[in-house]
Amino acid sequence: MATQMSSSHRSNELGVHSLDHFALAVPSLDEAQRYFEVFGLETRPEGSSLAIRTVGSTQRWGLLIEGSRKRLHHLSFGIFEDDLKPFKTRIAERGIRRLDPPAGIDSDGLWFHNPDGTLIELKVARKSSPDEKCTPELISSPPGQAGAPKRSAAPRVIPSRLSHCLTFTRDVPAMIAFYTQVLGLRLSDRCGDDIAFMHGIHGSDHHLIAFCRSNAPGLHHSSWEVRSINDLGQGAMQMAEKGYTQGWGLGRHVLGSNYFHYIRDPWGSHAEYSCDMDYIRAGERWEARDHPAEDAFYVWGPNPPADWTHNHEADPR
Ligand SMILES: [Fe+2]
Repeated sequence: MATQMSSSHRSNELGVHSLDHFALAVPSLDEAQRYFEVFGLETRPEGSSLAIRTVGSTQRWGLLIEGSRKRLHHLSFGIFEDDLKPFKTRIAERGIRRLDPPAGIDSDGLWFHNPDGTLIELKVARKSSPDEKCTPELISSPPGQAGAPKRSAAPRVIPSRLSHCLTFTRDVPAMIAFYTQVLGLRLSDRCGDDIAFMHGIHGSDHHLIAFCRSNAPGLHHSSWEVRSINDLGQGAMQMAEKGYTQGWGLGRHVLGSNYFHYIRDPWGSHAEYSCDMDYIRAGERWEARDHPAEDAFYVWGPNPPADWTHNHEADPR
């Protein structure tokens, strides 16, 4: 498979360039389809599963697989074609057992487990993480003109891309070590052993994957970039009008700096509208710090829901 060589490709270092997609098992594909389409995404059948795309893009950012319960099925990371062989060597040298692709998934990628037992794929793919920071849009009306649309004419919010996933893990330090040493990601920031954020070495958002301590693996949320802070509020309205009223926002995070609005899905995880996350360029050294959680969670916003860090995959309720 041919892949575009990005201007940000750092050929002297080995690391994944993107979170290519996440895969989630859900008990009802119909419910999942409705939720993600109301959120502003597109779905299309892919075998017996559903691919999640952004409008106007061919990138498969997510895969929904029918299962008995909600469960993080796998995470797929994009790599440059030149890096395939070095990754094979690295995986072999570390004694990591290569696996066949899961049943029903057509793939020539490299499959193995992370320390939690979650399936990971490395695949040659287009770099889907951005090569530069996306500047948010602020359209201000000139004097003498009304800026806001009528409520009935407000445009539908359409996210532009997947930004990151936050996953639960039994062991945050083990995840930092694994994703650093095997996938070649770098730590961006952490709060002790409770939460950590990692970025790609070829240029990516402040985090394309993050970890939150729990008693089992799982997906906390997928995060999707929108163009403006206005879109965060508009997106939340779009979801509320169709019955998706639970979540958390509007607010601003400290680590990553993004403005956020999270909407809870039917199974207790969330999709996040995100805007203006910090960006780390290829080759840029970001000083990873260990922050006290009480001063690093969010700058402003409502109090998070009481069960915000509850892992519904470990303990459905
Ligand atoms: Fe997030």
